[in-house]
Amino acid sequence: MTATTSTPDLLTAPLDVPSAIAQRRAIKTFKPDAIAPDLLKHLVELTVAAPSSYNIQDWRIVLVQDAAQRAALAEAAYGQQQIVQAPVTFVFAASANAGLGDLTPIYEKGLQTGAWTEGTVEYFKKAIPQGQTALGDKRREYAVKDAIIAATHLMLAAESLGLSTCPMNGWVEDQVKAVIGAAGSDDLAIALLVPVGYAEEPRQNPGRLPLSANVFVDRLDTPYVG
Ligand SMILES: Cc1cc2nc3c(=O)[nH]c(=O)nc-3n(C[C@H](O)[C@H](O)[C@H](O)COP(=O)(O)O)c2cc1C
Repeated sequence: MTATTSTPDLLTAPLDVPSAIAQRRAIKTFKPDAIAPDLLKHLVELTVAAPSSYNIQDWRIVLVQDAAQRAALAEAAYGQQQIVQAPVTFVFAASANAGLGDLTPIYEKGLQTGAWTEGTVEYFKKAIPQGQTALGDKRREYAVKDAIIAATHLMLAAESLGLSTCPMNGWVEDQVKAVIGAAGSDDLAIALLVPVGYAEEPRQNPGRLPLSANVFVDRLDTPYVG
């Protein structure tokens, strides 16, 4: 089937954040409809507007769109068909060692926007490599945190703009790496897969526990009751 491009487009009023959070569901079946290029670009920009530790932006995001690539990615995800159906799946990978690399473009951008002074940059030039080295094996975990926050931005931005998503953790990391061209990489960790598209059918909210079950005040022995 030839994919068509669905409305809504950028002219449709976006949902406000609380409504997008309340309405979002993990969607398991998607229409084959394509996402308009402008809308996809808008989504990508909102995704990378996410915060990251020291603004390192250590996510590596691959938009898997090609039909053969989607089929291979679905195979790496135990055959989950959302990836085949949705026009694009965002693979959120994280570079564990990005913070040890050349951060000049990030410093220059911070100076250019006026957000950072020369003093801030000089401090970061020392603090970031020191901090990243001290993290050791935890660098991977820290990079994954940044990537997951970006994925959350994507899910809420997509919902707000009339699209649906499904966060996915069910995949084999080495196989996903092979599909995106990172076979054997020790630096790259796969954080989350997020198919994005137009929902074929709605899904019900499976609900949440009462707040007192897993939200606390000050210490774990005092449940939050609102
Ligand atoms: C980290 C994470 C991994 C998940 N992995 C999968 C997955 O591999 N396949 C899938 O169909 N749903 C997956 N889900 C979706 C959850 O089942 C879903 O979010 C949960 O049931 C709550 O439903 P809701 O998102 O509609 O509120 C995942 C969700 C999260 C947050």
